[in-house]
Amino acid sequence: MAMLETLQTIKRQAEEQLATLTSTAALDALRVRVLGKKGELTALLKGLGQLAPEERPTVGAQINEVHAWLNERMDAHLALLQARERELALQMETIDVTEPRPMPKIGAAHPITLVMHELIECFTGMGFEVMQGPEVELDHYNFELMNLPKNHPARDAQDTFYMDDNIVLRTHTSPMQARAMLTRKPPIRIICPGRVYRADEVDATHSPVFHQMEGLVVDEHVTMADLRGTLDAFAKKMYGEDVSTRFRPSFFPFTEPSAEVDLTCSSCHGKGCRICKETGWIEVLGSGMVNPKVLEMCGIDSTRYSGFAFGIGMERLAMRRFGIRDMRLLYEGDARLLGQLR
Ligand code: DAH
Repeated sequence: MAMLETLQTIKRQAEEQLATLTSTAALDALRVRVLGKKGELTALLKGLGQLAPEERPTVGAQINEVHAWLNERMDAHLALLQARERELALQMETIDVTEPRPMPKIGAAHPITLVMHELIECFTGMGFEVMQGPEVELDHYNFELMNLPKNHPARDAQDTFYMDDNIVLRTHTSPMQARAMLTRKPPIRIICPGRVYRADEVDATHSPVFHQMEGLVVDEHVTMADLRGTLDAFAKKMYGEDVSTRFRPSFFPFTEPSAEVDLTCSSCHGKGCRICKETGWIEVLGSGMVNPKVLEMCGIDSTRYSGFAFGIGMERLAMRRFGIRDMRLLYEGDARLLGQLR
């Protein structure tokens, strides 16, 4: 009978094709073509109506049998193909962990950061506490309480960034002295590292933003010998046992007496060279005994307490430490500079 022959042909062809399939996509296509709603077997079933009524049940049963059989074969083959495709995908995604790769770029701390960390370690080791405060500062703290009254030349607008009449970008870290004395009781031992601002043109030794670290000690019986001992210890800890300090008389409104402090030049060990301009010494900080007027303005009884203060310029330390001649290199963010320090 023609219909049964067609059925056998469909079955045989489907079987042959199934054996040659290599992808699940091709299998899906075959399934649709043979078993789908508009597929070959479905078309046969629809044609049953043309047969004699007594033939319909047997032929229908045979079509259903082939349908079930092919369906089963396709399922089995699908499982096989899926397993193979997974295997292939895994192989493709294998990572060769032994393959050499370029080294990742590792960052380095900025010279100012390095020096700041060294200073903090040095002074906290001597019992100082780190205190930080605002860079946008009240005139009152930045100048007034530091004994720089109105009309003092240091307030010149050429040096100071004024936000308005009462607010400035701090020109030094010294206002932290006032903030410490107004919020703490002696004994006070603090250091305050941070950014400061002056309206300077950028050149090899100037920048409108730079870094200082303020130090302040207030207690009973604090003398200039304590200042000298502390700074000597700092010099030796940071630069070695053969480095010593030299105090030169100076003037700052907030300290009395005041001194500028030099360290033995570490390039020539005091003999004199180009770096220290043949003097054997390098200037690193300003210091002095806290002016009793400042103590009183900040609510400290100057008959009972005394104190010393110092302000270190961090750029100078960093440039000296790393042999950097031009301050601009510190701010340009050139990764090659940092790369050399790693
Ligand atoms: N504030 C001063 C400046 O910016 C530095 C300084 C000098 C700080 C003497 C001090 C000090 O604490 O005692 O130039």
